[in-house]
Amino acid sequence: MHHFKYKENELHCEDVPVCKIAEEVGTPFYLYSHATLARHYHVFSNAFKEMDSLVCYSAKANSSYAVLKLFADLGSGLDIVSGGELFRGLKAGFKPEKIVYSGVGKRIDEIDYALESGILAFNVESLEELEVINSRAAAMNKIAPVAIRVNPNVDPKTHPYISTGLKKNKFGIEADAAIEAYIIAQDLVNLDITGIDCHIGSQIIQAQPFEDALESLKDMILELRGMGINIRHLDMGGGLGIIYNEETPPLPDEYAAGIISSLKGMNLKLILEPGRVIVGNAGILVSKVLYRKSGEIKDFVIADAGMNDLARPSMYGAYHGVQPVVSSDRRTIVADIVGPICESGDFLATDRKMPDVKQGELIALMSAGAYGYTMASNYCSRLKPAEIMVKGNQFHVIRKRQSYDDLVAGESIPSFLTDPPRHL
Ligand SMILES: Cc1ncc(COP(=O)(O)O)c(C=O)c1O
Repeated sequence: MHHFKYKENELHCEDVPVCKIAEEVGTPFYLYSHATLARHYHVFSNAFKEMDSLVCYSAKANSSYAVLKLFADLGSGLDIVSGGELFRGLKAGFKPEKIVYSGVGKRIDEIDYALESGILAFNVESLEELEVINSRAAAMNKIAPVAIRVNPNVDPKTHPYISTGLKKNKFGIEADAAIEAYIIAQDLVNLDITGIDCHIGSQIIQAQPFEDALESLKDMILELRGMGINIRHLDMGGGLGIIYNEETPPLPDEYAAGIISSLKGMNLKLILEPGRVIVGNAGILVSKVLYRKSGEIKDFVIADAGMNDLARPSMYGAYHGVQPVVSSDRRTIVADIVGPICESGDFLATDRKMPDVKQGELIALMSAGAYGYTMASNYCSRLKPAEIMVKGNQFHVIRKRQSYDDLVAGESIPSFLTDPPRHL
């Protein structure tokens, strides 16, 4: 359930008409509903409340400062994959002892920063990383809490770019080798083995892949405990899918019930790293139609948002619903909705049956709260869009649209380009 609804033909975010925000801040902009963000977090975390569990919201889905602050205030933990996300998370008020750190390529400065901060666990993805974390912890006179990210070779049946738990993927350590990695870790004196981790992919809309991964991890936990390696927590990662179009993903309650019943009697703390399911349907991207154009074989709606603002359609062929911000009876067209960028891959929707929107009208790209702004870029020196959060009848610009000056901030001209002689 989300809070983007039509009232008297006008799309509202909670109690604020989307048009009103567009008038004040211009387009394009991301728009988030506070009530939806909070509701999704509560629904997800309540689903697991009968277990000793910790929800670590996955920052990569949407790491805007205000969004992070909202979840930190609700008591959430955080899943990070970079020093930058750690910085944002700490600044937003997440407790370090509720932060888990995944990623195949953690740099030494990032490892040091996480050790210094006292995070809950490193999700370690290779033997070499295990050794580096141990030696950095030794140098800093610390004990690093670690879980090994196991690659359980489970097919999540999602887009190949967001499938992460297959042998051919770069993530984690293969199940057979993981036992060996734990044995090695046990001898590394600056490590404390606290848990086991997996994350098999994103936008997963069936329960089976999660069940298969869980079974494989449970077997490993028992084997490790039999060897005297006491696994105290299980991190199931994120990945639960959402409805973009006609998908039927398990509801958080159904997803949780399967995990909880499977873990009965295992004496484990459960960690979850949901991203998309919390923020995906809590945000939209609002854009203006710049031009309409009819070709011999296609109609085009040319919007002022493009692949640099919302990369998912061109990157994954992902579907986002498109709705006019002011609804009215009109004919239906079939069109490609494209951005202003000089690439044919710059589309927001293709061959889309949609209401006949006119030049100057506002459209909403639905379900854009996850992997929207976090994947936005300055390609073609386009300014990154603004981000707005609504609560009830108030709205706030949580991030200003970039300015032209922002575009060149941090750049400088070397003296060999300015000192004479200017022409060789
Ligand atoms: C390690 C890890 N945890 C959690 C997530 C969040 O996944 P999702 O947004 O599908 O819940 C991801 C996303 O790729 C991830 O790589």
